[in-house]
Amino acid sequence: MKIAHVLSLIMLLLLALLAVIGYQRFKGDAEVGKRLAENNCGICHDMTATRKNGKGPYLWEIYRRPAGVVDFPFSAAFRKLAEEQPFLWDDEHLERWLTNPMGFIPQTRMAQNSKDHPVSFDGIQSSGNRKDLITYLKTLQ
Ligand code: HEC
Repeated sequence: MKIAHVLSLIMLLLLALLAVIGYQRFKGDAEVGKRLAENNCGICHDMTATRKNGKGPYLWEIYRRPAGVVDFPFSAAFRKLAEEQPFLWDDEHLERWLTNPMGFIPQTRMAQNSKDHPVSFDGIQSSGNRKDLITYLKTLQ
């Protein structure tokens, strides 16, 4: 085999590898998302089929669930938005919410501390991490 052939073969393999890696990033990694969810959401949200509310509503079957429909004492700001402009938790809304909950719904309780629950959540900075998280949220069913 000529050296040029070997080199083209190596190039092809590298391209295939890059395509696989690119695709993985594009579709998100549910395993990474699960760890991110346990670390960033688990303190307030139950993500199992038990459907127990914590400081936040349970997230089982959250993907494409209408906002604010589970039996949970949502904040006034959240209820107002969900009633006046109902929406589903699809990719676009989850992406907005997880980037900056206060930007999406000012006064949401998710981004506020309270005396009995001195933790709050103000968003996931990395777009790659958000993609992994949303990929994981889709598996909760
Ligand atoms: C500090 C506690 C806390 C953390 C941490 C937290 N949340 Fe929440 N979450 C809440 C609260 C409280 C609400 C209800 C908001 C309201 O009533 O304003 C909520 C609401 C939601 C909703 C809307 C659910 C529905 O039924 O409409 C989604 C989706 C959500 N959170 C996802 C997440 C994800 C994903 C994470 C982690 C990346 C996360 N939250 C982290 C407290 C938290």
